[in-house]
Amino acid sequence: MDPRPIGVFDSGLGGLTAVRELARLMPEEDLVYFGDTGRVPYGGRSRDILVRYARQDVAFLRTFRPKAIVIACGTVSTTALDVLQAENDVPVFGVVEPAAHAAARLTRNGRVGLIGTKASIRSGAYERVLARLRPGTQVTARACPLLVPLVEDGRSSPGDPVAETVVAEYLAPVKAAGVDALILGCTHYPLMRRIISAYMGPQAALVDVGEQCARWAKERLERDGLRNRPGHTGVHRYFVSDSTEDFSALASVFLGEDVAGGVEQIDITAY
Ligand code: DGL
Repeated sequence: MDPRPIGVFDSGLGGLTAVRELARLMPEEDLVYFGDTGRVPYGGRSRDILVRYARQDVAFLRTFRPKAIVIACGTVSTTALDVLQAENDVPVFGVVEPAAHAAARLTRNGRVGLIGTKASIRSGAYERVLARLRPGTQVTARACPLLVPLVEDGRSSPGDPVAETVVAEYLAPVKAAGVDALILGCTHYPLMRRIISAYMGPQAALVDVGEQCARWAKERLERDGLRNRPGHTGVHRYFVSDSTEDFSALASVFLGEDVAGGVEQIDITAY
């Protein structure tokens, strides 16, 4: 039994896709979320900058003495997981391994689509794990740099002409490749799930990396005896590095609970 909180971070709103699933699967766990809204998007940045940002994000979360860190960001998971795991004495979970397992399980025809930020696609991280789990898997990957800003701007609902056009343009080659599983390799993308799924059609199963990572984390915390005591009502705290208003409004809609009173702004450069 371990009452310490779980620390979760992302460049912005996207990591809430992991928070929602963590809260659903483990309602007794306290969660501390950091969204680096002052520096989003991460996806076009170099490895050096991403490692620096990720170290600061983790340093902030570590002030809460977490029992585990969830990197609810595809970009950081594909770029800095090894560094963060080596530097921290608590479990650090990324999204790549859990998502690749799910895709390998779901695909029937061995054709898997992958969309993510430029940094995630450049890393080749998903391809490496899939080659190990399911040799011969054909991965059609596409970087989608405009999707994160659209989501952060609240433009992710069906009927939004810009979002629909951008999704169709990015996904055309992925759909043409005949994939039957599509990894939404960035935690922001499930917020556009309805547009993506309408474009891809029912033959492509969508893999939500935040959701898969939350399940993975739950299994490992259980295995290692790190779960909180049953019956405790988990407390969720949210921190951002820019003003709280936009984040609070979008987060409340997405999580289905009013988080406005629980969001605080911090100076991440101080960590
Ligand atoms: N949610 C982040 C990810 O999963 C978005 C990265 C960004 O800020 O560009 O990659």
